[in-house]
Amino acid sequence: MREKILWNDSWLFCLDDQENMSQTDYDDKNWTRVGLPHDWSVLMPLSETMPSGAGGGYAVCGTGWYRKHFDMNSVNQDALYNFYFEGVYMDCTVYLNGERIGAHGYGYGSFYVNVTGKLKEKGNVLAVRVNNSAQPNSRWYSGSGIYRDVYLEKTDRVHFDNFGIRCAANGIFQEIGTADLQIRSLVRNDSENDVQIGILHRLYDAEGNLVLSAGTAVSLEAGKQTDSMCRPKLENPHLWTPKEPYLYTLESLCLLDGVTVDQKRTRIGIRTAVFDSDRGFLLNGKSEKIKGVCLHHDCGITGAVGTRELWSRRLHLLKDMGCNGIRMSHNPPLPVLLDLCDEMGFLVMDEIYDEWMLSKNKNENYYSESMAFGASQFFIRDSKNELTAMIRRDYNHPSVIIWSIGNEIPEQSSVDGSRMAEELQRICHEEDSTRMVTCACDNIMAYPDIRTRKEFEEVLDVVGYNYVGRWRERAETFFEEDRRRYPDRCFIGTENPGAGGVRGDYGIRNGKMEGDYRTAAVSHELLWRYEASREFVSGDFVWTGIDYLGETEWPGRGAPFGAIDTAGFPKDTFYYYRSIWNNEDITLHLLPHWNFRGEEGTFKTVIAYTNCQYVSLYLNDRLISTKGYHECPRFGATKSWLDGREKNPTTNDLHLSWDVPYEPGILRAEGYMDGKLVIEKSVETTGVPARMVAEAWSALIRPGEIAQIELHMEDEKGRPVPDAEPMIECEVSGAGEYLGMDGGNLLDLSLYREKKRKMFAGALLCEVRGTEPGIITVCFQTEQNIRTKILIEVAETGE
Ligand code: GAL
Repeated sequence: MREKILWNDSWLFCLDDQENMSQTDYDDKNWTRVGLPHDWSVLMPLSETMPSGAGGGYAVCGTGWYRKHFDMNSVNQDALYNFYFEGVYMDCTVYLNGERIGAHGYGYGSFYVNVTGKLKEKGNVLAVRVNNSAQPNSRWYSGSGIYRDVYLEKTDRVHFDNFGIRCAANGIFQEIGTADLQIRSLVRNDSENDVQIGILHRLYDAEGNLVLSAGTAVSLEAGKQTDSMCRPKLENPHLWTPKEPYLYTLESLCLLDGVTVDQKRTRIGIRTAVFDSDRGFLLNGKSEKIKGVCLHHDCGITGAVGTRELWSRRLHLLKDMGCNGIRMSHNPPLPVLLDLCDEMGFLVMDEIYDEWMLSKNKNENYYSESMAFGASQFFIRDSKNELTAMIRRDYNHPSVIIWSIGNEIPEQSSVDGSRMAEELQRICHEEDSTRMVTCACDNIMAYPDIRTRKEFEEVLDVVGYNYVGRWRERAETFFEEDRRRYPDRCFIGTENPGAGGVRGDYGIRNGKMEGDYRTAAVSHELLWRYEASREFVSGDFVWTGIDYLGETEWPGRGAPFGAIDTAGFPKDTFYYYRSIWNNEDITLHLLPHWNFRGEEGTFKTVIAYTNCQYVSLYLNDRLISTKGYHECPRFGATKSWLDGREKNPTTNDLHLSWDVPYEPGILRAEGYMDGKLVIEKSVETTGVPARMVAEAWSALIRPGEIAQIELHMEDEKGRPVPDAEPMIECEVSGAGEYLGMDGGNLLDLSLYREKKRKMFAGALLCEVRGTEPGIITVCFQTEQNIRTKILIEVAETGE
């Protein structure tokens, strides 16, 4: 029977490279003990001269080795054994007991290494060389090392292929309440005998009730594999949607002589996902506008290491913002992130590459032959396998609605680009007949020599448009001209400007990251007004949902394009999206803060992001004025925001603003709908910090999980101080270990791991990992001796 064992514990690591490090008897006693997943780059100081450069976020990279000594309880000579690596950045070679057993180039692909017949009961050494030394090789922070989970998988000789179960809804017939499922099972016979096998599938609903059984029998010769198909009908299917992400569990058994030799459990969702040239994206046959964000893979403090807890906090915020889509830019994501997207209801664009054969300049984002150290170096050899592996791995996720074969690929304008696109798209179709394919093109209206070739666009099922607003004479007509010229084309905004900025920055800081809070939302407002009123545009994935490391300028560590910062704190623009995307909750958010000591009498622009019909603004109880959206076709005013008609488009603003002479006190806003006061919000001039408040996003974790603790300062009256920036020291004791702190300030270059960090714009995040069952005590202290502490419970595993 199949066993899948997490292989993350008790590794040794060394940032050095010697040939004999693969050998069993190599002396590694001075190496550092680490647990996986592990990213060595995020643990080391940044420096302007690092070869990873601006793209890679000035991180230390290099070549490192991992070793793990282990014994097996028993080794079954009849069984197959494989190590499964979810992701190693990059170019790794794997050795077992001194023998080279596998290698993998691309840093984001998941891969298996077969060790059947090679494991000993005692004294095994698994060694992995990770070569991230050729720099620069990435346009964003990649991290270095075995940064995702590793497993040891054991199966019988007659077994399902690793991603051998593929289940999809082939048709949903809502009128008669049925769905046609197609379940493919790829079975291998790695034994020496021809066999007769039975395959049995049982489908359970979310409450655990058996709702369907289907089976088939096949004969399979020794050494062969077979792909069999069942097409059962599911009565009264409960459909998967972003609002109600209903999941079933498919249990698949492989039987030999009546005995179960393999068993797989697969979560599935029943839904169809199609793009249409007139109606945009159709989920279960209904138009659903994609309100998406692009995300890179890093998680701030932990670098390239992501976990369910870290992504869960971030995705909850995105959900509240009204976001319903995520583009995994520009590489196959962490598997657990897709699980969360299934569970929480996000529409995912799963993307394979940022470059094919032609490499990009890693600092400037255009074609350059001199920086060919990234994914392009493996393209010719591995692209077919990488794409196939991604599709097989991610096939069963209902959240994945489209495959993307690339981002801003230089070949979009080369002579053989369309042939390459055709081939990659063919692989997608061969592996998956249910999903459509796109490629993110940024040069559809660029200068003639780099312009996307028409043949390239025409190959694609869905044409991906990046930055439509950058195209000079086409800049504000967006998709219009192509819609006229190619009426059968399916359109998706694969990437367009979002509303980012620096959290809490109202023009008082200096530095590269400074943006103007008054205009932060403007480009997105234009785009959204256009897309929301045109059904043929499927929607968009804005750049980006969350700030990310890399793609920066010295002295900076990351890029500030997100609605949420690297520490997971929402910026003001988060509320802009919430006001236009989240139609279920009332949003009224006022900015800036009102702590401008010494600036009395100067004009401050006050912005409200709101979906109320109108807002009255008061300063110290004096009415400034009432403003509204009477002339805009927005939710709340017309209740017909997405119905494809523009009413009276006389303003481009999707926010309200006032110029107010500053005086300390209370700025208060009242939000009205249908003449009724529905919400009130105020910002107040606060006193200096008097207390510190710590709140854990989850105060109950399990060993190995990460607790995320949010800190802020309050004044004497209990009001959060938005501009508090004290230096804070953290002390962790008990059942956990300290991981680091971050306030989302991309100009703070100190190590996340340091025990002291400056709060940023009134907030700081601290992460600790549970190491054993018990209590973790986390104490915080400012230099002015303001203290607080929080207890995190680490529960027994499996409780
Ligand atoms: C896009 C690119 C992204 C990112 C972004 C920055 O052109 O696809 O990866 O570089 O620009 O604005």
